[in-house]
Amino acid sequence: MAARSEDGSGPRRRPLYGRSRGKTLRAGQKRLVTEILPTLQIETTALSGAPLFAAEPQAYWLEIGFGAGEHLIEQAKANPEVGLIGCEPFLNGVAAALSGIEREGLTNVRLRRGDAQALVEAAPDAFFSRVFVLYPDPWPKRRHNKRRIVTEAMVAALARIVKPGGEVRFATDVDDYAGWTLRRFLASPCFRWAASGAVDWRTPYPEWRSTRYEVKAHKAGRDSVYFTFVRI
Ligand SMILES: C[S@@+](CC[C@H](N)C(=O)[O-])C[C@H]1O[C@@H](n2cnc3c(N)ncnc32)[C@H](O)[C@@H]1O
Repeated sequence: MAARSEDGSGPRRRPLYGRSRGKTLRAGQKRLVTEILPTLQIETTALSGAPLFAAEPQAYWLEIGFGAGEHLIEQAKANPEVGLIGCEPFLNGVAAALSGIEREGLTNVRLRRGDAQALVEAAPDAFFSRVFVLYPDPWPKRRHNKRRIVTEAMVAALARIVKPGGEVRFATDVDDYAGWTLRRFLASPCFRWAASGAVDWRTPYPEWRSTRYEVKAHKAGRDSVYFTFVRI
């Protein structure tokens, strides 16, 4: 049997996410999920298949665990030449993102409702120019740490699917998760941490749009880190 790493990477990994549904959807949200989601939803294998958009985007960006989609929608609005792929298992979050997509008339977003790990594993080499992992679930109890989305295996998978010169952006308000993530990216020969000069890891990214979890964290008095890992 293949060896499992310290952080649970490897085969037979447990499901990574917690809830996949919350409150009952309102009628408008149900309509979005039944009518709009099927037109935007992609299979894990779609990235290597037929064109995803009417016109070929200049770049593809992925957001893992987009929550209610605030950041995804803003990025799609600000970067119409980019194809944004959002991956999120929580149905209510997907419904909220669909509402934003419809409201803004966005045509450069595709969604995957489910575990990002499967999408990442199926993505072609060097497909994405940018990947966002923003306020991922912290799984703070030690025995649950292995459910974190950032693992040695995930860093290796991101190294495969991010283009040289492309980047992974990781933000969190959880100190322990910040250290955990830094250790794993710094151990990878494929990434360098852009932590000096103009790129300050305590300052939000340019064109940053605060997410729901960031607002919660800051209200509770917790600061954030904003890491950028550049694919070498
Ligand atoms: C703490 S929330 C943060 C949401 C959003 N990024 C924000 O900052 O408001 C973490 C999100 O990651 C999603 N998530 C957890 N595991 C995931 C996985 N394996 N693949 C994709 N999304 C995942 C959860 O459903 C949840 O919406």
